[in-house]
Amino acid sequence: MSKVTVVGAGKYGSTTVQRLAEWDIADEVVMTDIVEGLPQGLALDMNQSRPVLRYRTLVTGTNDYADTAGSDVVVITAGLPRKPGMSRMDLLEVNAKIVKDVTQKIMEHSPDATLVVVTNPLDQMTTLAAEVSGLPKAKVMGQAGILDSNRFVHFISEATGEDILSIEAVTLGSHGETMVPVPSLCNVGGRPLADVLDAAKIDELVDRTRKGGAEIVGLLKTGSAYYAPSAAAAAMVRAVLTDSNEEMPVCAWMTGQYGINDVYLGVIGTLGAGGVTAVKEVELTDGETAALREAAVAVKAKVADLEEIDY
Ligand code: APR
Repeated sequence: MSKVTVVGAGKYGSTTVQRLAEWDIADEVVMTDIVEGLPQGLALDMNQSRPVLRYRTLVTGTNDYADTAGSDVVVITAGLPRKPGMSRMDLLEVNAKIVKDVTQKIMEHSPDATLVVVTNPLDQMTTLAAEVSGLPKAKVMGQAGILDSNRFVHFISEATGEDILSIEAVTLGSHGETMVPVPSLCNVGGRPLADVLDAAKIDELVDRTRKGGAEIVGLLKTGSAYYAPSAAAAAMVRAVLTDSNEEMPVCAWMTGQYGINDVYLGVIGTLGAGGVTAVKEVELTDGETAALREAAVAVKAKVADLEEIDY
């Protein structure tokens, strides 16, 4: 019996559930939320699509953590978006309370689960979930890098006209300002990115990738992106659940790679049944290594903010 739980039945959570169910890789996907009726209604609706789309995974909508018992993988999307007038620290406090509460309840019923955290602010929430859960750090990871890397792929495809599926791109570090694009690992149909686009254009696309989330929020006006984010989270769940040992960008605990320790950082990891079973040290230029180390320092500073709030 393979079982996945997604906490939070908002846009991100419900779309993740939908993708996982349609891939038909788990026996059951449980969706839970504090809002009564919301996960139940969405689950009923999704389950009725099964005969049309020809899959068997059953979606259970619930407000009771007992229904999440024995989950192999748990995705945490629960949280509030930043509202007008709310400071970064206010959001941190609100979501820290939510993620702490959710993690404790999940661990009561699924002590061996692997956790995939997506709630923002991502670095802090992943660190907090790891601490509260008491799980080995390898079994707690955050989603950011797949999303950023694939946003970059999309922009490269738009700029070059090349087939989206022939482009590979990698970003490391963290979300936002501390994202570290690695042009040396990017290629377009097997050709280095630098041979296809000039440096100014690459910089422009990197900048757009860094601000990729904000661009979508600006257009939507209410709410943030969820199609590409849920695709990224679902791909991580699939790798863990099927023990595929795929390499992918992931926010993972650092144990000396690139000279960096004791922080969750966006790197390339191997994902399998044990969570992030290895962190790959790719060859970076001196500048890229320095940028990654700077990102680690910035994340550590943000994580230190957790000590200043009450959650
Ligand atoms: N337990 C369970 N669910 C909760 C809790 C809680 N304690 N608190 C809030 N929720 C639920 C809300 O009821 C809502 O249904 O979390 C859901 C969040 O959904 P949305 O507001 O639609 O937000 P979404 O776009 O799904 O984003 C979720 O992912 O990308 C990040 O920044 C984003 O932190 C946010 C998260």
